[in-house]
Order: sequence, then structure tokens, then C-alpha cells
Amino acid sequence: MHYSPVITNADIAAKDENLHLFQYVEDSKQCEIDTFVSRGGYKAWKKVLEGISREDLINTVKASGLRGRGGAGFPTGLKWSFVPKDSPKARYMVCNADESEPGTCKDRVLMERDPHAIIEGMAIGAYAIGCHLMFIYIRGEFDHCIDKMEAAMEEAYAKGHLGKNVYGSGYDLDMIVHTGGGAYICGEETALLNSIEGERGQSRMRPPFPAIEGLYASPTIVNNVESLAAVPHIINRGAEWYASIGTEKSKGSKLFSLSGHVNRPGNFEVPLGFNLKDMIYNPDYGGGMLGDVPLKGVIPGGASTPFLLPDMIDVALDYESLQEKDSMLGSGAIIVFNENTCIVWILKKLIHFFRHESCGKCTPCREGTAWLEQMINRIEAGQGEAGDLEKMEEVCGNILGRTICPLGDAAVMPIQSALRLYRDEWQYHIDHKKCMVKSNFEFK
Ligand SMILES: Cc1cc2nc3c(=O)[nH]c(=O)nc-3n(C[C@H](O)[C@H](O)[C@H](O)COP(=O)(O)O)c2cc1C
Ligand code: SF4
Repeated sequence: MHYSPVITNADIAAKDENLHLFQYVEDSKQCEIDTFVSRGGYKAWKKVLEGISREDLINTVKASGLRGRGGAGFPTGLKWSFVPKDSPKARYMVCNADESEPGTCKDRVLMERDPHAIIEGMAIGAYAIGCHLMFIYIRGEFDHCIDKMEAAMEEAYAKGHLGKNVYGSGYDLDMIVHTGGGAYICGEETALLNSIEGERGQSRMRPPFPAIEGLYASPTIVNNVESLAAVPHIINRGAEWYASIGTEKSKGSKLFSLSGHVNRPGNFEVPLGFNLKDMIYNPDYGGGMLGDVPLKGVIPGGASTPFLLPDMIDVALDYESLQEKDSMLGSGAIIVFNENTCIVWILKKLIHFFRHESCGKCTPCREGTAWLEQMINRIEAGQGEAGDLEKMEEVCGNILGRTICPLGDAAVMPIQSALRLYRDEWQYHIDHKKCMVKSNFEFK
């Protein structure tokens, strides 16, 4: 089976002992269980079942400093510790492989090229919370990934890494590959759980949080693919080793999906704290701006994160440094755009996506995203009016922090930041009824 064509920095990862997620992703044999095992695969899972207590396991992951790679950056070990130890109910581990945030395509590489690493991480996470049935919820359009994960799961069962009495430990662990239907909202953890249950993919009110009442009203942990794939390495090499990578508060390595107007769009594993400017211009990564057209801006962490101007990109790619720039690390999807790109056009595309993907459960998101789309479409078409920008700001303010799930915030944060950072361009659109970028283009 062919891989999706994508540039990775596997050659660098293979030589750098601190990089571990992309070490073997350019070797098609890595998908085969014998190769995976010959390179130390399933060793951590065996070690865990041979005698690491749940408490020690959770403490190790806590000490490693691993934070969720799905977007929110919540500490993984701490999340696991929220599952009640004395609950008589079943517990569930769910790997979130929905990967729908525009610009994000890193989990796909792991699923296609190192599926057993994900299964091993899921198994260890499952054991940590006392779970005997784990799920991976894969974005429905990812045919390749679904095939790879199913094939890997079957191999894992056949070789005794899953199933009854794994490694003679007395521990039973089953796995289900569940496919999504292509809705962005089903990447949000509670909508995802609804979807697995066969319900409409809409977010749930919290509390209760999934760790207390998740899948089938039982304690459930939802973790991102990349978060779980890091876990076996932490068990094999120790929390201290993992914590030594990255920065003081953002530990470990991270996968970044670089896209847009760069010479080498691709997925790259780097230690947290890696410089964004280097990511764009270094020949081993982005390789500079396509056609040498100057940079106009960057979305650093997926479509829902605030923009950075060219003079803000000399920044470390970690949770804290991007927050200091009023943006976010998010899912690690870096979208680069050049000076020939109209900011109003970008926002038109983004708000269309968020309006379309709103699950419709709460009014500010359902109605507000539709109003914003109407206004932005009007401005882009040269029909903007005085007061539109202030009206958009008011609508954004009425969505932010007032919705059931973070999709509402995700929709408005890029708009708010674009209005702040590129105000002149919006105003030009309204005043001149045309775009300052495509200045020879007149709207009728
Ligand atoms: C609208 C929306 C879409 C999301 N999509 C994804 C996704 O595709 N993959 C993912 O891992 N997390 C996604 N998340 C975050 C999840 O809700 C959840 O925080 C994450 O899976 C937890 O895993 P982690 O702690 O390992 O990061 C999304 C959140 C929102 C609000
Ligand atoms: S914020 Fe949007 S996506 Fe989230 S629950 Fe409300 S309507 Fe649904």
C-alpha cells in the first residue's frame, strides 16, 4: 500500500536520539509487527504488564511533563489520574484520530507509517486507568489510516499483544477501530463520544467531564494520537529523559504540520521550543517562502489560532511563548501565507468552515458564525459598510466564552486577531470596495 506523499524530517529524527516519533516513518516495514518488535516495539507494554503499578505509571507520565497534543495541552498523566479508582463501572480509553483541524495532518502520518506505536501507547494508557476495551476514532475520509490501523490491530491480536490474558499477565484488553463520518465537531471529545454511541455528533455540557462520565456514562479518557504514541518512549527511556527535551514548561518533542506558501510543506518532529522562523526558512524544514514572495502572516497552531505578523515569528514553538504573543500552539498546524494573500479572503474561507461545522446546539455559535459569514462575504465582495468591523467585533465578543464547547471560541479567535492585526486591510476593503492586495481587481 502506498503512503500519502508528504515530506517529513525522518532523516533528522533517525540521527537525533531525542526525536522518537518520526524515527522510522520513512521505512514502510515499520508498519509490520515483526519490524516494529525488532526495534523495541511493545517492550514498554510488556514492561508495564510485568509489574508497573497503575499509580507508578501515572506518576511517570506526570513526571515526564507530557501534555496533550490534540490542541489544549492538558497534562496527560494528570488527566489519567482523574479516573476514579473505585468506580464499579467499566472504563474506556479512546484515541482521538479525527484530525480535522484545518492545516493539521500529523496524526495521519503516524497512523499510516507507525500504527503499532499508537496501539502500544493506547494499551499502556488503557492499563493506567483500568480499561479493558479501547477505541480509536478515525476520521472517516482517512481510508489509508483505517486500513493500516485495522491491519495492525489484527497483527497485535495474532501475536498476543492484545486479547485475553496479554503476555500471561491475566490482563485482558480489546480494541475497536471506529470510523467517523467526516464532521469536524466529532474531534471534540464529547461529540466524539456521542458519535461512538451512535448519537448525533454534538458536544455535551460539562461537568460531568469524560473522566467521570464519558462513553456509555462510564469513566473515559480521550487522548490524541500523538500524545499516546509518545507514551511507550517515556516508559522505555524514563520520565527524566523525556522531560529533558524541550523547554522548562513545554516538555518533549512535537509534530508540526507546515503548510501554505513555503517551499517544503510537510510534517516535522522538533523539540518544543524550536524557533518558528527556522521552521519556515531552514532548508531542512520549510525551506523559505515559495517564489521568494515576502511573508504576510502565519497561523501557528491550526485554523482556530490567532495570527502572527512577520515581525512576531522569531518565537519559540511552545505553549508559553505563543501565548505571550496572544496566540496558541494548538494542534501544531503552521499555515504560512505570503503578501499576495487577501486577509479578508482567508477569513471568508475560515468562517465558512466553522459555520458549516458548527453542531448547532448552542445559539451564539450556530447564529453568530452565520452572521459573521454573511458580513465577511459582503466585505469581501466589495459591499462592506461603515460600522461592519465594529459589528463583527461585537458578534465575536458575544460568542467568545459563551458556548458549550470550544468550537465557538475557535471560530472567533482568528477573526478577532485578523481585525486587530490587519485592520487597515479590512478598512480598505470597505472604503474602496476592492482588495488592496489584488489592487487591479475591481468589484462590480
Ligand atoms: C471542535 C474541536 C475539534 C477537535 N478536534 C480534535 C481532533 O481532531 N483531534 C484531537 O486529538 N483533538 C481534537 N480536539 C480536542 C479534543 O476535544 C481533546 O481535547 C483531545 O482529543 C484530548 O487529547 P489530548 O489531551 O491528548 O490532547 C478538538 C476540539 C474541538 C473543540
Ligand atoms: S459551540 Fe458550536 S459546535 Fe460547540 S456545542 Fe455550541 S453549537 Fe455546537
